[in-house]
Amino acid sequence: MEWTREKRYLPYSKWDADTLLYLQAQAANSPYQMHYHLHPISGLINDPNGFSYFNGEYHLFYQSYPFGAVHGLKSWVHFKSTNLVNWINLGLAVEPDTMADSHGAYSGSAKEIDGKLFLMYTGNHRDENWIRTPYQIGAWMDKDGKVKDKTILFKNPEHITEHFRDPQILKQGDTYYAILGAQDKAEKHGHIDVWKSKNLKNWEELGFLDMGTDPMGYMIECPNIVRVDGHVVVIFCPQGLDKKIAKYEDIYPDMYIIADDIDFENHKLINPGKLHNLDKGFDVYATQAFNAPDGKAYEISWVGLPDTTYPTDDENWANCLSQVKELAIKDGKLIQRPVSAMNDLHTDEKEVKDQVIAEKAGQQYELKLTIKANQKGNLHLAANTDLTGGLQINFDTENGKLVLDRSKTDRQVSVDYGETRETDLAKNSDLKLDIFVDHSLIEVFVNDGEAVLTGRYFEDQANTKLAFDQPVDYSGKLWQMKTIL
Ligand code: FRU
Repeated sequence: MEWTREKRYLPYSKWDADTLLYLQAQAANSPYQMHYHLHPISGLINDPNGFSYFNGEYHLFYQSYPFGAVHGLKSWVHFKSTNLVNWINLGLAVEPDTMADSHGAYSGSAKEIDGKLFLMYTGNHRDENWIRTPYQIGAWMDKDGKVKDKTILFKNPEHITEHFRDPQILKQGDTYYAILGAQDKAEKHGHIDVWKSKNLKNWEELGFLDMGTDPMGYMIECPNIVRVDGHVVVIFCPQGLDKKIAKYEDIYPDMYIIADDIDFENHKLINPGKLHNLDKGFDVYATQAFNAPDGKAYEISWVGLPDTTYPTDDENWANCLSQVKELAIKDGKLIQRPVSAMNDLHTDEKEVKDQVIAEKAGQQYELKLTIKANQKGNLHLAANTDLTGGLQINFDTENGKLVLDRSKTDRQVSVDYGETRETDLAKNSDLKLDIFVDHSLIEVFVNDGEAVLTGRYFEDQANTKLAFDQPVDYSGKLWQMKTIL
């Protein structure tokens, strides 16, 4: 099927119910479908949106195009949870049904204000000449889950191009601030633009955030500010970032900077540190983080990349979200850990100690290992019986390196951007790994969240051997994981 512009932007009401049911069945029945991570009900999903706490529950939305594995007319689909692990699907929440969001209800954020959830997002509007206007929209969600009163708050000011989107709403004292991804007209560089409002109606631009860095590529998408352990962390996606400024391997990076604080009024970070890759693996993008009332900072990411094809495109669905992670700071770096309720998904606990961990581990498990210092080896996951195919984690605790290798999996992804990713380890120390496998998604937490390597992989689901390639001195546990949706 050819995805013409007309087809991508066809109103949802013009699609027939049978097509949607067919697409839903295709996504549900795919062998690659995730079972304990948020995934598409049909079609394509991308950024997490509106990650927040409201009315005693966590709320999360994602960008959705329900009619195929393409970036078409986007809407928000809504989920809620009491533990950040088990989610209830509440369906379509923000539809592209006004002039201002006629070509997509794009990414944004949410915050509980006066007993309602305030949503702030980008309305993607195009005119008959396909000229784009990015409207920043405010809307209110009641406790009954209905989104109402969409209002245009502001659009791109004169000095910013059509690339102006993904507002995050924040509050300090009695003032609201919003940060947005932006491209300036003069130099076509990427920025984070800071706005303020006293009443959520009248908004004033303060200026580009000074992060103490060189120009950030040609566009910044999905900027987020979150407070972690007394610091301010800025998470953002600088598209086209010069690799001399910071190394990265995916087509577009998802990065973070830790600062002592932020001065919103003067739109600058106080004592900003270096740029770091948020995830050391593949496919992580558009991460959204927020400070919850329990005092913790949580994040969730899109596992998928813009301008990238995945094998499930052939089945008309694409992408998933990561698990929710809890944030901390240690030695100037972000620590990302699973939330405690991930343990509630455990079934079938097994102590493991042999070279062959399991002949048939399935593709839906958590594996926690402590590998004794001064050893090298390969851990094979989703492997065939002779260990020639599948995923590999190569570890060398003597020289301090860990490599996630997806080159020997069945169906390749983004080969031009490399098939391995690595992270440094403390030398001559024990290595702790907490590995989550979910059919076509792997998340590897290294040494209690000092690094995370995430990635999609596409392997024959019958290949489920889990084994080291040589005897290794280690201890560990293996759990099967329950299905959440
Ligand atoms: C990032 C992004 C956002 C935009 C959304 C549209 O993946 O391009 O900048 O709001 O996706 O779906």
